[in-house]
Amino acid sequence: MDSQSWIEHADLLSLFPSHVWTFDLTAEEREKIAHEITPELEAIRPVFSENRTGVGWQSPQDLHRRESLTTLVSIIDDSTRSILRFLKIGYDAFEITGCWANINSPGCSHRMHSHPNNFLSGAYYLQTQAGADTINFHDPRIQAAVIRPPVTELTGSNTDQVVVKVKDGMLLLFPAYLQHSVDANTSDRERISISFNIMFSSFTENLSKPLWSGGV
Ligand SMILES: [Fe+2]
Repeated sequence: MDSQSWIEHADLLSLFPSHVWTFDLTAEEREKIAHEITPELEAIRPVFSENRTGVGWQSPQDLHRRESLTTLVSIIDDSTRSILRFLKIGYDAFEITGCWANINSPGCSHRMHSHPNNFLSGAYYLQTQAGADTINFHDPRIQAAVIRPPVTELTGSNTDQVVVKVKDGMLLLFPAYLQHSVDANTSDRERISISFNIMFSSFTENLSKPLWSGGV
């Protein structure tokens, strides 16, 4: 903010931040994961014909239960635990509720969406390259779109969309309510990622009761 003669002290509070966590895996873990997952993917994926563009494929959503995902699942569990600690959440029973592969051929995009009925969502990037190495996050404050005056420069304080660069071996997690999209793959290779959702276990039994005590 500008400094003004009438100000003794100014402060800027960023309220209710939307977090996106990224973890770059070590070369050793990346290789192990690629070694485990690639044969599984090759076995279940369709083969796209050379000249078809804009084709996307999603695998069945049970990959987290397969042997080939053991290393990745354990890393997802660890990263989730560290996020719950960061958020000071006092309930640590959670589970992966779905996990699937995405293969986007050149020209393929993914429209804006969120992942309802989960607490966190995420993706692990197996194959990215220039032209296929971003994910867009959209402002969850829908009321902020009511008035959009022109800006002289896009900044984190006035934008309605943030583009996050991703790379091979990156694990990215975010609140499941946060809308996101993927631009069309402008590279000449496929973009391959593994997506997942995370929810608290036994949610209704343990977390749905009123947060106040009744009676007098
Ligand atoms: Fe998504």
